[in-house]
Amino acid sequence: MIAATGIYLFAFFDTSVTGAHASLERLTREQWWFGGVMRSLHRYASDAFAAVALLHLLRELLAGHFRGFRWFSWATGVALLWFIYASGIVGYWLVWDRVGQFSATATAEWFDAFGLGTGPVVRNFLSAADVSDRLFSLFVFLHIGVPLALLAAMWIHIQRIAHTDTNPPQRLGWAVFGTLVAMSIARPALSDAPAAYGTLPQSLPFDWFYLFAHPLMYASSPLALWWIAGAATLALLALPLLARRKRSAAVVDLARCTGCGHCARDCPYLAISLVPRSDGRAFLKQAVVRAEQCAACGICAGSCPTAAPIARGEVLPGIDLPGDPLQAIKARIDRAASRSVVFRCRHERWPMPQDDACVITLECTGQLPPSFVDHALRRGAAGVTVSGCRPGACEYRLGGAWTEARIAGTREPHLNTRVPRERVRLHWWPARNNSTGLQAAALVLAAALLTWLSFDPPYRPLGAGEALVRVIVVHAGERLQPCRKLSAEELALRAPNMRAPEVCERGRHPLPLQVEFGGRLLVDELLEPAGVARDGAAQLYRRFVVPAGRHALRVRVSEAPRPGARAWERAEALELAPGRVLTIDFRPEQGGILFL
Ligand code: HEM
Ligand code: SF4
Ligand code: SF4
Repeated sequence: MIAATGIYLFAFFDTSVTGAHASLERLTREQWWFGGVMRSLHRYASDAFAAVALLHLLRELLAGHFRGFRWFSWATGVALLWFIYASGIVGYWLVWDRVGQFSATATAEWFDAFGLGTGPVVRNFLSAADVSDRLFSLFVFLHIGVPLALLAAMWIHIQRIAHTDTNPPQRLGWAVFGTLVAMSIARPALSDAPAAYGTLPQSLPFDWFYLFAHPLMYASSPLALWWIAGAATLALLALPLLARRKRSAAVVDLARCTGCGHCARDCPYLAISLVPRSDGRAFLKQAVVRAEQCAACGICAGSCPTAAPIARGEVLPGIDLPGDPLQAIKARIDRAASRSVVFRCRHERWPMPQDDACVITLECTGQLPPSFVDHALRRGAAGVTVSGCRPGACEYRLGGAWTEARIAGTREPHLNTRVPRERVRLHWWPARNNSTGLQAAALVLAAALLTWLSFDPPYRPLGAGEALVRVIVVHAGERLQPCRKLSAEELALRAPNMRAPEVCERGRHPLPLQVEFGGRLLVDELLEPAGVARDGAAQLYRRFVVPAGRHALRVRVSEAPRPGARAWERAEALELAPGRVLTIDFRPEQGGILFL
């Protein structure tokens, strides 16, 4: 839905700084019945995407699905979060309204926490002259490129998962689509006023799903936000290290394997491959387990046709769990005599049956070969119950679904058709929730939350009666030693490609900088030259929230902390209206200290 609506919007989008906002306004207002709905769908579907990804993370986290063989899905999932947020945030910049401008500037300030060698990134957003069409093309490129990378990362994320559920059940899919359309009509996504330079609005309609990190940064600091984001990512990535005792992977018994492929088809984690036969027997293939991908769920053992129990003999399946072999399960059935037998998955939460039933615990209901049900009944069991996590909520994803299909006779190996079905009961946990009313209520609640958090509560970048002062300096200080011109003889001694007319010792002076605002020193620092040899430009970017009103401002920069060094000074009394953003930018090539 996001891709389809995005392509439609792009067809009408003017990719220039001056045209972008107007083109979206035209589409939203003049073609509100379709273009406007498409725009709102794009917005709400993206919000829902972020929300659902976070819920998915929460669910896997609570289920402990980050350990062992799942580390791959978990780690790639963590990476997906970064792609989701990068895609969504850049999308806001394309509107180039005050929200997009605020978000782009905040992101630039976030990167400026590190003082990148190229000068503060925020310089790209100071005035209309700074935001060029070229920069805007970069935004467009990012908003197409990052989602494509996200798509590739999603593909990688499910590489170790078989029969992936990538589409919702049809009824749910249509219900979600209908709800998103209803939300788009009820509260269409609109642009804020066009980007304006030198001011910050009193309040911004704010999409908290994607933009929450900006207020977090201003409430702390850009560096603190890097720490929070980095620490959260590392903590999530480190979770798989909290390992449980590793259970042994499934093992193939080549003497029994016929290469039928049932196990490879049923394995939920693509841990089994069929490879050409290596033992010279008259079968084409044999099964091979990749131990590092194996969940030790036993579903393969339950699917192997050679796992049939023989009355007095040993069960010798082609594939089995060494720590929980089928032979041990058969021995317990044999001891049950005439009691009813309950095959129970270790992960379900139903209370244990209190009657005298013989309860046999399995790693997953999928571990149970259907022939074992037949065997239990033939040994005289009063009845058989298979009890476990229901299809869709199975600890090993597919065990419940395969068991249901094997017992119903729709998947191989299936339960013998002669077995009286009334003596076999399936008992799933948690019970299926078929209440349409409850599902509809959940959808309405989710829709209300999405529509609200996508705009409200508004964010106030500055308090009432406040203004912002930003200071930017990027300049190379005076050299410690003056450069020396080379003589003609010295030049002649050098290789032709090394004949620079001057030699300069490396190393520069730090830059003294003072900013005095309303009688208070905002900055009084020596800016150190960058680089290992300390001969790069010194750099500073700071922002200060100040009271609005009339203030005396004095700025002084010099190229070295010594009398007589080249220096610039500017002093003025300035009227700062509430919401005004005053940028003090030192640009000697444009006349020195600029007040923008
Ligand atoms: C773009 C966002 C994401 C998409 C589209 C996505 C999609 C999927 C899909 C389709 C599956 C297979 C589900 C199944 O058929 O059983 C899956 C499994 C999984 N995902 Fe994600 N996922 C996303 C983000 C995440 C995140 C953020 C995490 C956690 C950090 C995560 C962790 C996992 C884990 C651990 C599994 C394996 C579950 C299992 O083994 O039973 N995913 N994901
Ligand atoms: S299901 Fe059994 S017999 Fe068939 S390939 Fe797998 S291990 Fe071999
Ligand atoms: S035990 Fe489970 S994960 Fe391992 S090979 Fe068998 S079916 Fe696949």
